[in-house]
Parts: sequence; C-alpha cells; structure tokens
Amino acid sequence: MKILVLGAGAREHAIIKALIRTGTAPENISCAPGNGGISQEVTCIALNPSDPSAVTAWATEHSTDLVIIGPEAPLVAGVSDALRASGIPVFGPSQAAAALEGSKSFAKEVMAAADVPTGMAKECSTISEVEAALDAFGAPYVVKADGLAAGKGVIVTSDKQAALAHAQTFLDQGMQILVEEFLAGEEVSLFFLSDGLSVLPLSPAQDFKRAYDNDEGPNTGGMGAYSPLPWLPHGFVAEVQERVALPTVRELARLGTPFVGLLYCGLIVTKNGIRVIEFNARFGDPETQVVLRRLLTPLSGLLHKAATGQLASTLEPEFSKDVAITVVLASEGYPVAAAPDREITGLAEEDEHVEIAHAATKLQADGKIYATGGRVLSVVSMAKTFHKARKHAYKVIENIKLEGSHYRTDIALKVDEGKDD
Ligand code: AMP
Ligand code: GLY
Repeated sequence: MKILVLGAGAREHAIIKALIRTGTAPENISCAPGNGGISQEVTCIALNPSDPSAVTAWATEHSTDLVIIGPEAPLVAGVSDALRASGIPVFGPSQAAAALEGSKSFAKEVMAAADVPTGMAKECSTISEVEAALDAFGAPYVVKADGLAAGKGVIVTSDKQAALAHAQTFLDQGMQILVEEFLAGEEVSLFFLSDGLSVLPLSPAQDFKRAYDNDEGPNTGGMGAYSPLPWLPHGFVAEVQERVALPTVRELARLGTPFVGLLYCGLIVTKNGIRVIEFNARFGDPETQVVLRRLLTPLSGLLHKAATGQLASTLEPEFSKDVAITVVLASEGYPVAAAPDREITGLAEEDEHVEIAHAATKLQADGKIYATGGRVLSVVSMAKTFHKARKHAYKVIENIKLEGSHYRTDIALKVDEGKDD
C-alpha cells in the first residue's frame, strides 16, 4: 500500500513510526511537507498539504492507495473532499463533517440531537448576553470562542473581568461566544476510527494542556501525555462508544455529512458521569504519540478500512499491555512568544524504550538539527510500568540541549508506582 501522510508535526511523525512498526515499508510512505525528523525516515515532499488540487494531483500521479490527514487545516480546506471526488481513499473527514471541531455551536447541535452528554452552554452574540450567562452559571467561568482560534479560544477562570475580556476579544473578531458550565473531574482523550457508520475505539490517553508543572501557566497544544489510564472505571471505553461516538457518527450520517476519519472525544469524567467538552476531527497531539506507540494491529489496514467503509467487519485494534508516556520539549517562550531557530544537540539514539517524534525541527545540509520554535519534539517512552517509562523518558530529555527550552517534569507522575516492578 502506497501511503501519503499530510502534516509536519510530532503527531505525523508518530503516525509514520506506527505505520513502519506495524508493517508498512518506509519506501511506501511519503509525507508532505514533513520535518527534520520525518525526513530521516521517509521521503518528504514539498507540497502544500492544504492545497486540494495539488494534493490530489500528486496522489493520482503517484498511484497513492491511502492519504492520511494529520492536522485540521487540510480538512477545513476541503482536501479530503477533493481526494474522495477523485476516488482516492482518504482517512480524514470532509470539510462539512470537520465542522464538528471548527464550530463549537455545530458540535453542541449534533450532541443535542444525538442525546450525547455534554456541559450546558449558552450561545451569545453580545457582551451583555455573555455577562448574563456568566452570572447564571456562576464561577469558575468557561468561555469558548465559536470558531478556529489556534488553541487560544477557551478560557477557564474565576475572574469575571478576565472572562468578559476574553469574550470581547473574540466578539470583536466577529465570532459567537459559548459560555459553558464548569465541569470538574479528570480529562480523558479517547479516539475512535470512523468509516461514516461504524466506529472502533483506540486506547484512552490523558493530555497535559497547561505549560508548567502542577497544571500551572497558560494553555498549550499539549505538553505531554500517557496511556492507558489505569484509574478509569470498568467499561469506560464501551460507554463512550455507545453514548458518544456512535450516536455522533450516526447523527452526522443522518445530516448527510458522514464522518470518515478520527473522531477525537475530549471528555471529563465528572461525579455525575462522562461529559464531552470537545470533539476534534483528527488525531490529537501529543496523545497520538502514546496511543499509537502501544498499537499492535497494522495501522495501514485499520485506516484503509475506515477510509473505504469496512469497519463493521474489522476487529477492534489491539494494544500492548505496556504503558507509554510522552514528554514534549518546547522552545523558549512557548506558548506565548516565538524563539529564533536554534541548534539541538544531545538527541539520543532510539532504542526499544525511547523514540523521538519531531515537530518543529529541520535537518540542515550539514546534518545538524535545528529547532524552529513551538513544540519542538516529543520524547516517547514505553515500558512495563509508568515508573520505568518516566525514568527512560526523563533521562533522554534531560540530555537534549536546546537553549531556553522547557518541559514539564510531572507527566504521568500521579500514576507512577514509585518502584520498578
Ligand atoms: P477545549 O479547547 O474545549 O478542549 O478546552 C481547553 C481546555 O479547557 C480543556 O482541555 C479543559 O481543560 C478546559 N475546559 C473546557 N471546557 C471546560 C468545562 N466545561 N469545564 C471545565 N474545564 C473545561
Ligand atoms: N492535545 C489536544 C489536541 O490535539 O487538540
């Protein structure tokens, strides 16, 4: 099977590593545009991943059997629609179905129609409506911009003035605002493969969204993750499948916008049960690094079956009993300010315990690796216990030298058994 992966992040590097680990030959994988780490494993091509006609032309010319779309931008640009119209199997939803991620009000409508448990919310188009909704729900306040806001659209705060200022910023940009009830509990990311009618679950993971230890500092794209989650109640995955994923996919099919790709369910486990806080229409980053690290079933077959409507007759994917953690190395100033390009040294050789998924890196002609700012790379480690996985990951990340860089030291700390066996 000839595969084209679209994207340039650690998520795409993790997808490519999982394809190779589960049996796809590296020479059958191409990536557009890729990054410094990906280019060391497969062919990277200078193609704009968000240009529907350029991607379709390349995929046709190179007899591509499957296109895997990593980030959201190509989905929003209609790349999967163009590929599908040309008869090329694509793992990634249509522009219309991807609105499940891009429009929070659309997601709420779908959930209401499908009876999916989520937080109560009020849609507002003026600051006085926002203020009334804040007063009605009470503190802590949750304010969400209803549109793509590059991960900066949500604020959770007990400061009413800050909540109002956040809402005003996005109202000024012409967006609607969603004020939501605050939900207390652990967050879980659970991914489902969907072929438009049937779904198959992957293994649950937890993401660490705040920049600094102890969940302090600003929200980020994600600073680390671990999988599985030993504290989840029995039957959790089956419950999310029955109450969230399947009804959502069925409702989208009923609306004439079937969802073919990765349904990312962002959940909070409250004392009253599960609640959806967001859907994404793509693999999560950095959760993918730990979920796919543990995958045993060939990934190419799973994604091809999803892309071609064959999940009903496909067995559930299998996962290693070993655990995986990932720690993200971010550049100086992330997520607030951009750092200049800087050389990275001390990158360890990968072994059976540790892999490095690159994000914002480039490979120079002289073989040096440069960080280009943002989330630079993910150190991914797998072991029998969280204690060992943490030890391996932190030993590797401590030796990586990048001026000004930072990482969290508490990833998976609460599930660290504190001993080796
Ligand atoms: P989102 O972009 O919707 O995932 O929101 C970003 C982060 O805000 C989430 O990962 C949660 O930590 C937090 N959050 C979102 N909605 C709520 C809510 N209703 N109650 C509590 N925290 C929330
Ligand atoms: N890790 C969160 C996301 O991918 O949206």
